Amino acid sequence: MPVTPPDTQPYSPHEAERLRLFISAVTDYAIYMLSPEGTIVSWNAGAQRFKGYTAAEVIGKHFSIFYTDEDRRLGIPVLALQQATSKGKFEAEGWRVRKDGTRFWASVVIDPIRDDTGTLVGFAKITRDITEKKLAEEALRESEERFRLLVQGVTDYAIYMLSPSGTITNWNAGARRIKQFEHDEVVGTHFSRFYTEQDRRNGMPQRALETAASQGRFEAEGWRVRKDGTRFWAHVVIDAIHNELGHLIGFAKITRDVTERRDSAEQLEKAREALFQSQKLEAIGKLTGGVAHDFNNLLNVLGNSLSLLRRSEHSMADLRLIATMEHTVKRGATLTQQLLSFARQQPFKQEQRDVNRVIGSFEAVLRRAAGNGVALDFDLATGLPQVEIDVAQFETGLLNLVVNARDATPDGGRIVVSTAVRDVKAGQVGVLAEARYVVVSVQDTGVGMEPEVVTRAIEPFFTTKDIGKGTGLGLSQVYGMVQQSGGDLAIASRPGDGTTMSMYFPALVGDGKADAAPESTSERVLLVDDEPDLLETTGELFRTLGFEVLSASSGEQALELLKRTPDLQLLFSDVVMPGMSGLELARKAKALSPMLKVILASGYVAESVLAKEGAPLGDFEFLTKPYALSDLVQTLRKMDRAGAASAH
Ligand SMILES: Nc1ncnc2c1ncn2[C@@H]1O[C@H](COP(=O)(O)OP(=O)(O)OP(=O)(O)O)[C@@H](O)[C@H]1O
Ligand SMILES: [Mg+2]
Repeated sequence: MPVTPPDTQPYSPHEAERLRLFISAVTDYAIYMLSPEGTIVSWNAGAQRFKGYTAAEVIGKHFSIFYTDEDRRLGIPVLALQQATSKGKFEAEGWRVRKDGTRFWASVVIDPIRDDTGTLVGFAKITRDITEKKLAEEALRESEERFRLLVQGVTDYAIYMLSPSGTITNWNAGARRIKQFEHDEVVGTHFSRFYTEQDRRNGMPQRALETAASQGRFEAEGWRVRKDGTRFWAHVVIDAIHNELGHLIGFAKITRDVTERRDSAEQLEKAREALFQSQKLEAIGKLTGGVAHDFNNLLNVLGNSLSLLRRSEHSMADLRLIATMEHTVKRGATLTQQLLSFARQQPFKQEQRDVNRVIGSFEAVLRRAAGNGVALDFDLATGLPQVEIDVAQFETGLLNLVVNARDATPDGGRIVVSTAVRDVKAGQVGVLAEARYVVVSVQDTGVGMEPEVVTRAIEPFFTTKDIGKGTGLGLSQVYGMVQQSGGDLAIASRPGDGTTMSMYFPALVGDGKADAAPESTSERVLLVDDEPDLLETTGELFRTLGFEVLSASSGEQALELLKRTPDLQLLFSDVVMPGMSGLELARKAKALSPMLKVILASGYVAESVLAKEGAPLGDFEFLTKPYALSDLVQTLRKMDRAGAASAH
């Protein structure tokens, strides 16, 4: 809009004077006129106030004195006038210089002034000092930038924004760290991708946004999925963001990974439960212990009286009655022993032992208990630390576990007896303190247990078996025995998924290795027979001779055992067995450890039968079934002599 110069019409002289006075009085705007070349021709109060010059000081000077040196060098003042001339207006913001050299941020408008003929007669220049506004804007921008950097830099929280429909619009370092996605992978995609499949199907993401939109905020915890598919437990807050008009423009989402907190809460709960369970058993133990103790004394009296009774004359019928009573008293005594063991009132004979060895020499009994219907395997870890146990009670307990496993697999299956070392953290297994433990487990592929059965299984007299089939004291004894050794019993079971019973015994510190203390003097023999009965009786023979006995019910199993126990000295095997024959086993065993002595037992006249197989029979000794202890002793002597001879 061209401005009419004050000395031309249409203003009356009176009006023109009023306008001049008005302009010169304005102090918020510097309003002054330039000649067509840019020389200052008028000056008002505002100009004096902003720029510090009086009218006398500047009139006649070129207006470029208000520009910075730099702008002057770039020819900006001239360009401004050129643009005002050609475009009809120049408008800009920029730094200007006061008389005292200080700067201010100016908003500048330059309008060309033309006369009636259109000839340029000068410029009207209006300048305003907007330094404060500029500083405020800058401060705002800076604080926004700082805030942005802060959000970007936060790594403990995933902070990002969503569009009203849930599309991700930005992404910070925390989001990258927690969810593993890079900025470019997620921006523009829908945030429901972080939810689990199931939550997505149930419409959780949408509901969260709806809640935030209607109530201003949504807060919840739940599982979320990382890029690699793993889950974490997330604490999520979604805030709705509205503009000044109250329209929803998006959401701010803050997610925190609180998996650890959840885990420790869960662990606390577990520990509390374990404590409760052990306190409950403690209480039951006190009660049963007291009853069992008294009961045991009563049984003693009964037993003694019966043996006194036996001494006098009786009819056959009476003697049978006495025998039945004696048998019953014995059975009662066994039960009270189990009860006492649960109550930990059983005298406990602590010995330092390598459980592998104990299990090894008990193997035949376990096999017999398991029967032929299930496969019984042993998986014994090497180099186990020793533990302190009462061997007889340990054996009873292990037998209980194997019998339970067998009862749980009526249609056949597999039972594995295994040993392992485990470093347990506090709260991981029952009430066990943090330490190293030797774990002896019996695992079966049987019917498993319902959760209620798991929690009650240890209780004395808790049984799910038919009347007469179980007294419900087996696990009570195991529990008492393990507790008395300073350990615990852990039950892992699910219906249809089998059961694992794990006995934890504190590992003795020392060299960490099993030192073979009590057993080191005895020789070890591996017995192989597919007949459990024979395994047991032969085992008895060898034990009588001071051997430590390991046993296997097939050639294949025997080889497995041999591989695990390379220091075995003697193999005693049946010849005729399903699968690998004794002879084949003997050859393979010899190949495995050449120093091994081998005795083969057969019901046939052995050597002629074997000769047909073309075996180098000189390596092996033979025994014909049935053999007596004396036959066995002779054979062993013969081998010793041969061994001694070849050693010289
Ligand atoms: N391996 C297992 N698989 C499935 N259930 C088991 C197993 N071991 C134990 N149970 C359950 O725990 C209960 C208690 O076992 P526990 O050994 O204490 O008593 P029992 O076997 O019933 O009787 P017994 O006194 O003759 O051992 C069992 O009746 C059974 O329900
Ligand atoms: Mg049992």
